[in-house]
Amino acid sequence: MKEYKRFYVFSPSLRIWHWINFLSIVVLFATGIYIGNPFFIGSQGVEAALVHGQRLTMGLIREVHFIAGYILLASFIFRMLIAFMDKRDRLFIPKFWKSEFWSRLGETLQEYALMKDSSEGSLQIRNPLARTAYFLVYVAILFMIITGFGMYGISDPSGFWASIFGWVVWFLGGEFPTHMWHHWVAWLIILFAIIHVYLVIREDFTKKTGEVSSMFNGYKFFKKEPADLEELK
Ligand code: HEM
Ligand code: HEM
Repeated sequence: MKEYKRFYVFSPSLRIWHWINFLSIVVLFATGIYIGNPFFIGSQGVEAALVHGQRLTMGLIREVHFIAGYILLASFIFRMLIAFMDKRDRLFIPKFWKSEFWSRLGETLQEYALMKDSSEGSLQIRNPLARTAYFLVYVAILFMIITGFGMYGISDPSGFWASIFGWVVWFLGGEFPTHMWHHWVAWLIILFAIIHVYLVIREDFTKKTGEVSSMFNGYKFFKKEPADLEELK
């Protein structure tokens, strides 16, 4: 174990943001899918005479969705602010214009396709594929916030949210297309999460970098200096 060196990669703020973001997305997805297709009560709803005994109402599920929506918004703003406070937490825009980006991306893809031995592969704190995916996932979260609060504003057309994001519903062609976009991008985020968890665990198995635990304790472990070490400075 001694041959491994420890690198401090994630600040406490980033780690706290990551897990709050994860939990709010789990709640948003579960409640959102139900909003889109209320399978408990079916398309007919509940018989009027029985409604007062009903606990799990659509009203409650929407309320939980909106509370988690506010938490997602607050944590997103927090993530943007910490980007200016700790150099480690700055937001990375993938450097498509550099040839190094493409060569490292190629290497990573070969590793993932089992064409190259991952344990021998180049060691990086975050490979270009991960960087690109994270960049896109931040954009997707922002999209969900804008479309979500845009739809939220419909119920109060002269209110605060309608005045800020009301244009989105018009821009996307109405309420139904906005629902559909919000729905599709929700699935994209879940698809990302599934692949993300697989790749994070894979990294631990193949390179033994302490990947999964890094989002809890902040440290990654490398035998050699990672190629993108300059980005920790
Ligand atoms: C990653 C985050 C989010 C996910 C995964 C998500 C998921 C969903 C899904 C699947 C639907 C149902 C769409 C349909 O099929 O009609 C929905 C509806 C909705 N969501 Fe989200 N959502 C997210 C963020 C937000 C945010 C931040 C807000 C802001 C308050 C929000 C507000 C709404 C509203 C207003 C509806 C429509 C509710 C209705 O028509 O009763 N969502 N969401
Ligand atoms: C909705 C689900 C999730 C989303 C949207 C998400 C998003 C992200 C993002 C954006 C980053 C990069 C942070 C940055 O440097 O700016 C990240 C890193 C990370 N996440 Fe997640 N995550 C999710 C779920 C999970 C889960 C369930 C795990 C547990 C295995 C996990 C483990 C990690 C680890 C270990 C890293 C650091 C990986 C690296 O340095 O490349 N994530 N995640």
